[in-house]
Amino acid sequence: MKTWEDVYSEARKKCKICRCCPVCNGLACRGETPGPGGKGSGESFVRNAKMLKEIFITMDTITGNEEISTNADFFGHPVSLPVYAAPISGIKQNYGADLDDLTYTEELVAGCLEAGTLAFTGDGMHDEMFTGPTGIVKKHNGYGIPTVKPWEKEAMQWRLQMAQEANALAIASDIDASGLTNLRKSVTPVGFKTVEDLKEITSNCSLPFILKGIMSVKGALKALEAGADGIIVSNHGGRVLDDSLAGIEVLEEIVKAVDGRMKIFVDGAIRTGNDVFKALALGADGVLIGRPVSHAVIGGGREGIRIYMEKIALELKEAMAMSGCKTIKDITRDKITVKF
Ligand SMILES: Cc1cc2nc3c(=O)[nH]c(=O)nc-3n(C[C@H](O)[C@H](O)[C@H](O)COP(=O)(O)O)c2cc1C
Repeated sequence: MKTWEDVYSEARKKCKICRCCPVCNGLACRGETPGPGGKGSGESFVRNAKMLKEIFITMDTITGNEEISTNADFFGHPVSLPVYAAPISGIKQNYGADLDDLTYTEELVAGCLEAGTLAFTGDGMHDEMFTGPTGIVKKHNGYGIPTVKPWEKEAMQWRLQMAQEANALAIASDIDASGLTNLRKSVTPVGFKTVEDLKEITSNCSLPFILKGIMSVKGALKALEAGADGIIVSNHGGRVLDDSLAGIEVLEEIVKAVDGRMKIFVDGAIRTGNDVFKALALGADGVLIGRPVSHAVIGGGREGIRIYMEKIALELKEAMAMSGCKTIKDITRDKITVKF
């Protein structure tokens, strides 16, 4: 039977740019964008990984033997664990793997579904970089989350329309991509959006709308005012701004300020079930994983992603067992100690 080690070693052979390091933490690929790294000094990606290691799980071993469940839900849709594939585009350019984005997305969406979870799909400079992935979500009964870049009005409107027609479970927008210089210069440029711009979008959207790239209480409250149903606390894997804080560092204050009024997801260097546990204990409703998910698809297609998600679920279960948690709801703030 294939293991995660088999899948990862296959990914290492296939990636000509990404080194597929033993721990994917941004150290070896500092500044490599295009490539898998973080922007500039690469410190934002590195910090994402570093800060997770400053959180410790509290053992509680006097407990019962009830079965442990990682089941959760995504806006009412049941999932086997609250861990989702992050939207990634440019597989060839960023990893150096001979895999086009459409085949990547097909394998990603199918593999996540086989594992009982869901994928966010990507968008890019050319229309088909959105229409292709969204078509795949449609083919899978809408079980996926198309992620739209913050294009100018008309380009955003038809994409939102298409995602709604695909009957997607939700739609996301990585509003922090407005800072990506290559996209600001593309034929259809991306741009910053005001609360009013976003209000217009959310009021015309019949699906749960998630804003990706929120990194402060101020930003979260603006998202709330704009009518978002959820946010992803994310610095885009450290790819949009050098010297930014880590998502995991700002998560708790955002959770407190939002106070249950929106769903809150987080991403950035989440690599193990223990990391998932830490994010949930800080109040996240779920997490997204980026680079390793790409490695999984590159190394093993849909089987690779299923194997990866099963590995994460097993690790999460082990952390839950050792901390006296039987369900995801039991993973509360008192189960961790934060040293930052
Ligand atoms: C190569 C690469 C491409 C990405 N493309 C997108 C994208 O098209 N849309 C998006 O919202 N985020 C994109 N991201 C950011 C991820 O969705 C996610 O926020 C980030 O990778 C999470 O950090 P992790 O990779 O350390 O888990 C990309 C990240 C990488 C590394």
